[in-house]
Amino acid sequence: MLLENMSYVEVEAYLIEKDTILIPVGSTEQHSPYGLLGTDFITAEAVAREAGRRLDILVAPTINYGMAQHHMGFKGTVTLSPLTMTAFIKDITDSFLYHGFKRIIFINGHGGNIEPIKNAFLQLKYENKKGIFEVISWFLLPEVQEIEKDIFEDKNGLHATPSEVSITKLLRKEAFKTKPTEKKEVVRNKSYSPLSRDEFKKLYPDGRMESAPWLAKEKYGKLIMEEAVRAVMNRVREIMKIKLL
Ligand code: NI
Repeated sequence: MLLENMSYVEVEAYLIEKDTILIPVGSTEQHSPYGLLGTDFITAEAVAREAGRRLDILVAPTINYGMAQHHMGFKGTVTLSPLTMTAFIKDITDSFLYHGFKRIIFINGHGGNIEPIKNAFLQLKYENKKGIFEVISWFLLPEVQEIEKDIFEDKNGLHATPSEVSITKLLRKEAFKTKPTEKKEVVRNKSYSPLSRDEFKKLYPDGRMESAPWLAKEKYGKLIMEEAVRAVMNRVREIMKIKLL
């Protein structure tokens, strides 16, 4: 069930029965020469929509931009400032609250979004707003990380991972005709976080973070996506059982 295809009359009817909405959130940011700039919103959207379909839960339009300041050293990346992202997420959450949604769950595809999203939730609670606000980052769920480890061993890494690239290969096959496939070195660096755009580029000159995206395959994308959908559904089901105060 997609919000963008409904009328307000249908949303009114939905709210008589249910109070949950999923909101996919990603980023438009570099994913090395191997991956797509849209990777994080393409994956989050696919996982959220499939979970929503199976659970018969409403899915909001995807947020395609996120907090990606550390990737700004690479062309095509777009970022919201951390404070803008927090304000943006807060306003979206507040709009759904106003209409009567009580369980507002962001399905997230990008690590840099987590803290601004949580800050938005904190701000809403500071304003004494009632409701359950959650962010589920599909790539951090233990079930997903387990299958990634089975397939890619220690080569999944932290960014431009073969896992997320595999899912986009499954969903956007055509876009990979122009992407490289050759192997490179996987470098592991001890460093600190957060990094500025200049620090990031110094540490990760081609945009990969300890990953081997050339290992990506459509068939892995299918397996990982299925695991991600199932794991997200389990979390959403748990949230739907929580008693509201
Ligand atoms: Ni990503």
